[in-house]
Amino acid sequence: MCGIMGYAGKKPAAGIIIDGLKRQEYRGYDSAGIALRCDSEIVNVKVVGRVSELARKVSELPPESAGAITGIGHTRWATHGGVTETNAHPHESADGMTVLVHNGIIENSRELRSNLESKGIKFVTETDTEAACQLLALLYKDYGGDALRAMSALTAELRGAFALVIMFLDRPNEIWCARKGSPLVAAFDGGACYCASDPTALLRYTHDLFFLEEEEMVSLTPSGCKFFGFEGQKRIKKAIHLNWDSVMADKGQYEHFMRKEIGEQPDVMRLTIEAHTIVANVAMRKSLNIPRGLMDSIRRIQFVACGTSSYATLVAKNIMESLDNGIDVSAEIASEYRYRNVPGGGDTLAVFVSQSGETADTLAAARLAKTLGTHCVAITNVRGSTIDREVEHTVLSLAGPEIGVAATKTFMGQIGLLTLLVMFLLKEKGSLSAGDEARLIGGLRSLPTLQQSLLEREGEIKSLAEKYAGSKGFFFIGRRECVPLTMEGALKLKEIAYLPSEAYAAGEMKHGPIAMLDEHLTVVALVPDTDLREKTLSNVEECRARNAPTILIASEGDEGALAHADDILFVPRTEPELFPFIGLIPLQLFAYHVARTLGRDIDMPRNLAKSVTVE
Ligand code: G6P
Repeated sequence: MCGIMGYAGKKPAAGIIIDGLKRQEYRGYDSAGIALRCDSEIVNVKVVGRVSELARKVSELPPESAGAITGIGHTRWATHGGVTETNAHPHESADGMTVLVHNGIIENSRELRSNLESKGIKFVTETDTEAACQLLALLYKDYGGDALRAMSALTAELRGAFALVIMFLDRPNEIWCARKGSPLVAAFDGGACYCASDPTALLRYTHDLFFLEEEEMVSLTPSGCKFFGFEGQKRIKKAIHLNWDSVMADKGQYEHFMRKEIGEQPDVMRLTIEAHTIVANVAMRKSLNIPRGLMDSIRRIQFVACGTSSYATLVAKNIMESLDNGIDVSAEIASEYRYRNVPGGGDTLAVFVSQSGETADTLAAARLAKTLGTHCVAITNVRGSTIDREVEHTVLSLAGPEIGVAATKTFMGQIGLLTLLVMFLLKEKGSLSAGDEARLIGGLRSLPTLQQSLLEREGEIKSLAEKYAGSKGFFFIGRRECVPLTMEGALKLKEIAYLPSEAYAAGEMKHGPIAMLDEHLTVVALVPDTDLREKTLSNVEECRARNAPTILIASEGDEGALAHADDILFVPRTEPELFPFIGLIPLQLFAYHVARTLGRDIDMPRNLAKSVTVE
């Protein structure tokens, strides 16, 4: 969703801001804009479309604008008002005094707007943001140009979620920011201050970042950042060191970030295993500091997340059930959990999973669980993110920055970490047998090599993708440990190829969806060689009897499966519970190559955002 970049320093701001916006393009957007503080005016440039087009327009500005050393930029993912240049940010107040960009939704914007209109202020856009901009200009005037008091008064009036970044016409080298509900990170590199929605935009300048808290403001100047609460009280803040390499956020030799990130998965697994195991033992106590003995009182475990992360929680649920069926375990979608009358309290442990750590529904679910007295653990890929700061116990997944909108390596990082977390929790409870512990850790350790061997067979998967890219749609089917994979495989195709694709537990096909099958719908069946192989193969036959072309993903050496498929991909054998770690890679590569064959915008699919900060 909307991306923000601000700069107050001594160098020309335009290039720095455009670069920051480019690095956040993956968040998803439809228009872009930049405001530059020139000698005596603020120049505002906006476009519908890509940041590259904005850069082109900026390059045509006269030299005095190009030399501006303070500015703010924005990529907009439309919520209120169509995708037009006028509705694109930055917005200006009628008197030209305030210029502002915003990420989030101002829920009382209609009220504010009619109030301001009744005072004679003319609005030019359809956005919720303009109300904040016009109101701030009025407050700034009322408080005699006292920015801190005007900002406090503004934040007291606004309802909803916002990250606001502002320039005042009469404060030439200064930017003001306020955060409530939407992420914002600030930084100082010794000579300039920056702010952005996403840390990856700032790693080129510094790794020491200030993540704004809820209801926090900051003023940025070339001499540093000053922090305040919404009531105007000064705050001292410590920077968080983010150990990410800025090169990790570059595409390198790859055509797409998504392909690069799929290829990084064996390394993600290696890192995850090394960080949380010692020989054949799970060792998570250092990173997850839950009180000893806690698991004795836990009767219920809830895994809670959105999107791909919610499929990772289904993998965790299956593994937990397979190891110990004495615990009441559920995998919940955060946007539902938060509005249901969910059980909670001291006998419940909830694990919130979010690669970005900023998903609005997952954060709201975690806040709800806290109020119920539920013990909470977060799993996130971003140190310093809101979930990391708000949930008492956090374990970081070790995927590094992920730029492709469709999650790939962060999912792998999550399922790796969740598997180890499940084992750790059951070990604490005393219900993980030494045999299972050694078996699964042995299995996990062998995964990176097996995954690498699959990546080396990309050509086979690419041919399949090219052959089936013309299908009218896809069904992904499988049983038990394969069900979360069917969902992830279908979601990847929807996200990046825009093709209708459904996921079904194989046994469910005959209860309705089978009516849709004909020669134009392709079935992708996950059939590892487990106790359920025969059952799934029977379901595959039911699909083939309706003329649906069928691709099977089967275990190496399972020659008998050949008779049940139009095409087959043999994948390495592993422990049954760990099949998702293997089956996932062909599904990701399949979606990638289908989308590539169809000429889709793979890293920035239409209508999607990487970090969903509104509910
Ligand atoms: C968006 C992203 C998905 C992601 C989901 C949940 O929809 O495009 O890739 O799975 O949000 O995000 P989270 O950051 O909470 O894992």
